[in-house]
Amino acid sequence: MKFQGSQQYIATQDLMLAVNAAATLKRPLLVKGEPGTGKTMLAEEVASSLGLPLLQWHIKSTTKAQQGLYEYDAVSRLRDSQLASVDASEKVKDIRNYIVKGVLWQAFTAEQPVALLIDEIDKADIEFPNDLLREIDRMEFYVYETRELIKAQHRPLVFITSNNEKELPDAFLRRCFFHYIKFPDADTMRAIVDVHFPGLKKELLAAALKTFYDVRNLPGVKKKPSTSELLDWLKLLVAEDIPLEALQSKDDKVAVPPLVGALLKNEQDVTLFEKLVFMQKHNR
Ligand SMILES: Nc1ncnc2c1ncn2[C@@H]1O[C@H](COP(=O)(O)OP(=O)(O)O)[C@@H](O)[C@H]1O
Ligand SMILES: [Mg+2]
Repeated sequence: MKFQGSQQYIATQDLMLAVNAAATLKRPLLVKGEPGTGKTMLAEEVASSLGLPLLQWHIKSTTKAQQGLYEYDAVSRLRDSQLASVDASEKVKDIRNYIVKGVLWQAFTAEQPVALLIDEIDKADIEFPNDLLREIDRMEFYVYETRELIKAQHRPLVFITSNNEKELPDAFLRRCFFHYIKFPDADTMRAIVDVHFPGLKKELLAAALKTFYDVRNLPGVKKKPSTSELLDWLKLLVAEDIPLEALQSKDDKVAVPPLVGALLKNEQDVTLFEKLVFMQKHNR
């Protein structure tokens, strides 16, 4: 089992190394990086290229670790106990009917090896990663209600992503193999764009990339546009049939690019960019 990138996904050499290292160590791969650098997609692509089903757990601020293991649905049990039917009263007797399996449980008891994605772990509260240490380490947990031990049949290939909104606890980090997806350089970005828009004209792409990196490198910009925003913007440029000249003014003066709303997502950044354009026009 070796991950080598895929048709739809451009993986740099060090990213492929990291995926394979995590698999060899049998540790979760913790992937950090700016939003839109392909962290979620990495898990999907690795799973599909290794032929593993992917179980996904998308973390929210309210997600608790226990929900990944199982939840006891006491409310349904109470409701069923108030019904008069024979079926319902049979069902109520067995607590197992009210245990709802979480994603980890499903991953541990799947018949074939699976990949497991714990997406955006930094969204949850600070205790969340610590609460999963033992389960991720030992690949087992105990169900108190039914007194059973759920043990992984096959160790799932675990991906954990973080947008770096919160620091993760040391004890948690120690158990992961870490990889930071650097923001793609222009060459890698060209390859990524090529995957999504194979026929794009070279000149248009070059001009668009220049604008894109100019916007990203704008000093003081609040929210830097990401890969997925570049792809959105290119899609619009193609759909609206924007001519090359609109991106590339003749005497190399910068112009405010068309449809810049795909790249810049707040008014301060747009103003900042307009100011820069204005100043450059006057300096020449
Ligand atoms: N290396 C890559 N190869 C191909 N497409 C990519 C790559 N990185 C990002 N993308 C594009 O950007 C989009 C956002 O990626 P996503 O995995 O959702 O980012 P993240 O989870 O890091 O926020 C993807 O749907 C894909 O279209
Ligand atoms: Mg994501």
